[in-house]
Amino acid sequence: MAYLQWTENLSVGIPRMDEHHRKLIDLINRVFDAMSGDASAAVDGVLADLLDYTRYHFAEEEKLLAACSYPDLEEHQAVHRSMVKEVLEMRQRHQNDPASVTASETLDFLSKWLMRHIIGKDLRYRPYAENHPAV
Ligand SMILES: [Fe+2]
Ligand SMILES: [Fe+2]
Repeated sequence: MAYLQWTENLSVGIPRMDEHHRKLIDLINRVFDAMSGDASAAVDGVLADLLDYTRYHFAEEEKLLAACSYPDLEEHQAVHRSMVKEVLEMRQRHQNDPASVTASETLDFLSKWLMRHIIGKDLRYRPYAENHPAV
């Protein structure tokens, strides 16, 4: 069962970025699934996948925002950097003491981590990026 789902109201108007966001949602669902079992190695693996894909998505999104001269690019980049740090810290905490990181806390944290960003920050670039000739 999927816990988080992508819906049309999360669309940033750029199909490739929507695909990335769907993939991030999928990875968060996988983190939660892994945590619901008790294989801590699997949890570390999916957290690593989430970090890798997050870094890839953020870099691609920043390129796109630069291409359409998005005025708040610097602020957006700073937010991306601190989001990567948050997941790194969470992975570290899990590595140090797997029992200290519960599945429900993690789902709650990661769903807010992603949804607040898409809704609060990514949706703001839609008017600049959608229909931009450089995109
Ligand atoms: Fe973003
Ligand atoms: Fe994004």
